[in-house]
Amino acid sequence: MRDIKLSPEEERKYFADVESVRELAGAGGRRPGVYIRTFGCQQNEADSEKIAGMAESMGYCIQDRPEGASLIVVNTCAVREHAEKRALSVIGQYKHLKAADPSVIIAVCGCMVSQGKRADQLKRSYPYVDFSFGTSDLHLFPALLLDRLKGGRRVFRLPPDEPPVPEIMPTERGSSYRAWVSIMYGCNNFCSYCIVPYVRGRERSREPDAVIGEVRDLVARGYRDITLLGQNVNSYGRGCSFDCDFTELLRRADGIDGDFLLRFMTSHPKDATPELIDAIAGGRHVARQFHLPAQSGSDAVLRAMNRGYTREKYTETLRLIKEKIPGCVVSTDIIVGFPGETEANFEDTLSLLREAEFDMVFSFIYSPRAGTPAAAFGGAVDAKTAGERMQRLLELQTGISAEKNAAYTGREIRVLTCGRSRTDPSVTECRTEGGKLLHIRQTVPEGVFVKVKVTGTGAFVLEGELAETI
Ligand code: 5AD
Ligand code: SF4
Repeated sequence: MRDIKLSPEEERKYFADVESVRELAGAGGRRPGVYIRTFGCQQNEADSEKIAGMAESMGYCIQDRPEGASLIVVNTCAVREHAEKRALSVIGQYKHLKAADPSVIIAVCGCMVSQGKRADQLKRSYPYVDFSFGTSDLHLFPALLLDRLKGGRRVFRLPPDEPPVPEIMPTERGSSYRAWVSIMYGCNNFCSYCIVPYVRGRERSREPDAVIGEVRDLVARGYRDITLLGQNVNSYGRGCSFDCDFTELLRRADGIDGDFLLRFMTSHPKDATPELIDAIAGGRHVARQFHLPAQSGSDAVLRAMNRGYTREKYTETLRLIKEKIPGCVVSTDIIVGFPGETEANFEDTLSLLREAEFDMVFSFIYSPRAGTPAAAFGGAVDAKTAGERMQRLLELQTGISAEKNAAYTGREIRVLTCGRSRTDPSVTECRTEGGKLLHIRQTVPEGVFVKVKVTGTGAFVLEGELAETI
């Protein structure tokens, strides 16, 4: 069984720890500050919102810079080496903050520190880090913090074998109109390149009533863009005591009245069913958008990646999506330079891109992850070849994306405003239903659905002007 709850005792302890930290950390009279730095995917962002919620409930106020904070939390990613290096370098920058004020607590959480070797490295080489914990232990954050505030020893926790699905942590959301809702945690797929199943553990799902209650509450509070999150949403509910699969969950969330868009990610191509495609096609709120990570267009590479589908099966699913959901925006992930990838294998990926005509492609150069099967595969693709392949892929896809976007010219579409552009404050950034970026040269408050006319397009962004406010 994979839907283990916290025991009443564990819940009681959680709340007692929250109270004790509140007393101890706020003893000086002033409200202590917490700074949270997040790397990685949306799942990590959702986790950080829980850390922020717990910190607030413990009396901390959220601040947007590390200087002056009493508590610093770094939420790390391990999916590629680059992400780990960046997290380690940022943690390194906090050394002087601890030197200036030894009472500052520095905690590290997330995927990187769920690997024994990284936890050891932190313990040995980063003596100013107070404690670390993985994604399955978020609810232990108050206990770990309390222990350290009381002068306890440094603790570097590794993931438990049977992690629970706690429902007690509050969420402090980073946005007032866009929200992440985790529906499940972990992954059982063991794609040969991927560290996620090792660091996030086995799949476990939240109760459908808890998910639906959260979505209903968000809609009632005016949230407009709600994304259901899981590493592989198609396995939602598998092996659980309740009887509800992902399609059913999506239908239930779609049944909630209100003005909102419902998205989900990520769907594994091996389990994307015709029923799910029907649920999107017939949905009232479900965005006509599908992120379906292909990873490669070569059957030989897909087999070595342990993806569980062939190119033909993948393109058949894609055909069904395009047929049943007209105008659906389709995106994918591609890994370039997987061990053993030949020039011919890579050309198969390029031909998949030509055939599929994705709206967006997120491409990554393969990064060996210690402990995964692929890290021990021979046939490494040298960095120069991988870089050249990536360049060719980007050139091809830029042309395809530009062409797909050009088809929007002159159309009137509904978009959600997302605030001013950081680089040009005269521009309001918007997202289309399919998740494309659109700029308007007018100032509109964020979190509002507006109708725009598309006036220009490029490969990465559409341009538009207000047609009317909805
Ligand atoms: N190297 C490169 N890319 C990876 N991804 C996952 N693991 C690796 C790795 N070891 C990519 C996959 C996945 C996305 C989130 O990250 O494309 O879909
Ligand atoms: Fe990693 Fe594959 Fe699971 Fe995605 S489905 S998280 S790529 S193991």
